[in-house]
Amino acid sequence: MMRSRAEVGIALVGCGTIARFAHLRTLRGLPGARVVAVVDPDARARNMAARAASASPVSTLEEALAHAGIDGVVVSSPTSLHAEHAVAACRAGKHVYVEKPLAADLDGGRWVVAAAREAGVRVAVGYNRRLHPAARQARAALSEGRIGGVLAVRSTFCEPQPKQGLPGWKRVRDTGGGVLLDLASHHVDLIRWLLGREISTASAQLQDRSSELDTAWVHWTLDDGIAVQGFYSFGAGPLDQIELIGERGVLVIDRVRGVTTLVTRRSRRYGLGPQRSLSGPADLADRLRRLVQPAHDDSYRRALAAFVSIIAGRPTADAAELATAEDGLRALEAVLLAEASCAS
Ligand SMILES: NC(=O)c1ccc[n+]([C@@H]2O[C@H](COP(=O)([O-])OP(=O)(O)OC[C@H]3O[C@@H](n4cnc5c(N)ncnc54)[C@H](O)[C@@H]3O)[C@@H](O)[C@H]2O)c1
Repeated sequence: MMRSRAEVGIALVGCGTIARFAHLRTLRGLPGARVVAVVDPDARARNMAARAASASPVSTLEEALAHAGIDGVVVSSPTSLHAEHAVAACRAGKHVYVEKPLAADLDGGRWVVAAAREAGVRVAVGYNRRLHPAARQARAALSEGRIGGVLAVRSTFCEPQPKQGLPGWKRVRDTGGGVLLDLASHHVDLIRWLLGREISTASAQLQDRSSELDTAWVHWTLDDGIAVQGFYSFGAGPLDQIELIGERGVLVIDRVRGVTTLVTRRSRRYGLGPQRSLSGPADLADRLRRLVQPAHDDSYRRALAAFVSIIAGRPTADAAELATAEDGLRALEAVLLAEASCAS
């Protein structure tokens, strides 16, 4: 098929679970985007992806970068390879959408930030939940002052995944595994984005129940003193909630149910006021889709659509919300702070 000059050409690196669940389907359905090459050392994975996207299957990123017509690279390889893949793409002058977390260690994260600056390309990190309707409703409610000043945050993200259900690399911290990098980093990013604050201290308890660092209790503090209490696990749940506890009420972002709830106290009577869902008519299509497909989460599509819109030179409103490489580095630093608190 001829590529029109208006099409944004993409190379997808890593054709595993998230690529199959979200990225290939999204990129195939995005007007103005085309997957040119798919990269995976596993022949079965790359051939399946190549068929799904009508793209060329290759086994290394270098081969993909040699293809003509690639403008952007989507990195969904195992976490410990993110930095290497993102830096190679930046050095080839390509824009990069790198899955979260930005890297498995600080050197890797800093390397990507520096490579993006030197090459003058855009790096977006896959903290797609910023574009989830429940998170956007909560951010609007906070900026309207609906719960007053936030004093504390409770963050819980648990996905029951038996050890044999995790890919090998996710079972071992050195290869980018562990629940803090994998699940908690999503919440760290959301909390920074919701409150506009940085994490300044951390104290954690970590356990290897079934695989390395698969359970974590963390007490973080933000730079204005707000306390964040977190629990993360591959062996419990499912639960994905952030509670923002404010002077005049509570906001609960519940991704599993797809809603944000506002609870405010009554002024004259004893007890809590009514709980109100903040979902509006704009979210109706999303909620109906979830009735038939409970795992549906449109934020994956919105994030990649925003990335493609930047490359095309026509950034959508969502593009301004994409996490930058610097955001990715801040989230990584918060995770490393928590891990370091129990290393001594
Ligand atoms: N944003 C989200 O909500 C979200 C959800 C799931 C996963 N992720 C992230 O996506 C990444 C991939 O996760 P997954 O669950 O799909 O993992 P996975 O193990 O299912 O897939 C990884 C794929 O990368 C391939 N791979 C290994 N070495 C490679 C190399 N050198 N070059 C290219 N490909 C290589 C593997 O063969 C595999 O097919 C992780 O970093 C994870 O944190 C993000």
